[in-house]
Amino acid sequence: MTAALQRRLETPEPRHSAERTDLHPELNRAHVRFIGVGKTYEGRQGPVAALQGIDLSIRRGEVFGIIGRSGAGKSSLIRTINRLERPTAGRVLIDQVDIGEFDEDRLVALRRRIGMIFQHFNLMSAKTVWQNVELPLKVAGVPKAQREAKVRELLELVGLQGKHAAYPAQLSGGQKQRVGIARALVHDPDILLCDEATSALDPETTQSILGLLREINARLGLTIVLITHEMAVIRDICDRVVVLEHGHIVEQGPVWEVFGDPQHEVSQTLLAPLQHALPQELQSRLQARPPSPEAAVVLRLQFTGSHTDEPDLAALFAALGGRVKLLQGGVERIQGHALGQLLLAVSGSSLDAARLQARAGQWAQRVEVLGHVV
Ligand SMILES: Nc1ncnc2c1ncn2[C@@H]1O[C@H](COP(=O)(O)OP(=O)(O)OP(=O)(O)O)[C@@H](O)[C@H]1O
Ligand SMILES: [Mg+2]
Repeated sequence: MTAALQRRLETPEPRHSAERTDLHPELNRAHVRFIGVGKTYEGRQGPVAALQGIDLSIRRGEVFGIIGRSGAGKSSLIRTINRLERPTAGRVLIDQVDIGEFDEDRLVALRRRIGMIFQHFNLMSAKTVWQNVELPLKVAGVPKAQREAKVRELLELVGLQGKHAAYPAQLSGGQKQRVGIARALVHDPDILLCDEATSALDPETTQSILGLLREINARLGLTIVLITHEMAVIRDICDRVVVLEHGHIVEQGPVWEVFGDPQHEVSQTLLAPLQHALPQELQSRLQARPPSPEAAVVLRLQFTGSHTDEPDLAALFAALGGRVKLLQGGVERIQGHALGQLLLAVSGSSLDAARLQARAGQWAQRVEVLGHVV
């Protein structure tokens, strides 16, 4: 484990605004807390350890992302929050209450406080949009007038006021997920679990569903826990993220920090599609030693977000000297931090590659000399 990763896993999290004075600050922040959680399934070929030693806090009101390779244990973890899965070790606390010993009645009440949406929507095909959303209220014995008011309000919130009488087969994927979201919110939950909720949707529809989730998070103050294979979804909506591998936490932190400077090999691999690869053509021309005195030094500057300012290019170029060409790159903002990379070719400078690297290090958090090109 690198020092930076170790530090990230150990750094206490910043304090939450709405704190109770009678609780330890660490407990105050946590809406959902996993303490040494493990889950072992009895598979056909023997026991499968899906989760091991999970210690994690999810704060009230945040959008929390869970990522990891297929089979890493993401669904198993999220499903322990509403006890769809029962941990085989450790404890899950919601609002500081251990849900492990809940009887049926308390589980029913718990699940009403926790909405869940799924990749394949799980709607009833023989029921209309209205009936799909109304059903859980009926099951809970809510009187008709109250049911109607709630369903109307929620269908308006998710933008389906014109679709009350439609059947799921008559809806687009995005509309089906809106029904799923409305249904998940009928009992005014304070946690919403999303397991691959946008994976069956095209990019534009994904954006509209993410917009809706963000609005719900802001307007209703819900804590959202979200699993996705789409890293852009995490970047666009999550506050913090955890990376799982073989049932263990390998990295966690604010999204800007994990995305700006992923420490673990798994995080780096998962996030690679968001990084710009070195252009093929440039890769083939790069040489380890300068082929001639006029050859340009190719530098890669990485901005990991630890400075909140975008780089001052004029100052950077002046410090490097000679001619600086921009080969590739860009900067984006995540949670107010500037992340990105620049590939520069520097020729005619009085500085050699090592000195150029050191100079550039005053602007970027990480600088590599990739090689030389003519
Ligand atoms: N009911 C089960 N019985 C036996 N093994 C299971 C069961 N559910 C999950 N597993 C195993 O537990 C491990 C974790 O599964 P899980 O579904 O939590 O992974 P995941 O990260 O959600 O994967 P994916 O991204 O593919 O959805 C896997 O090895 C899986 O095969
Ligand atoms: Mg899964």
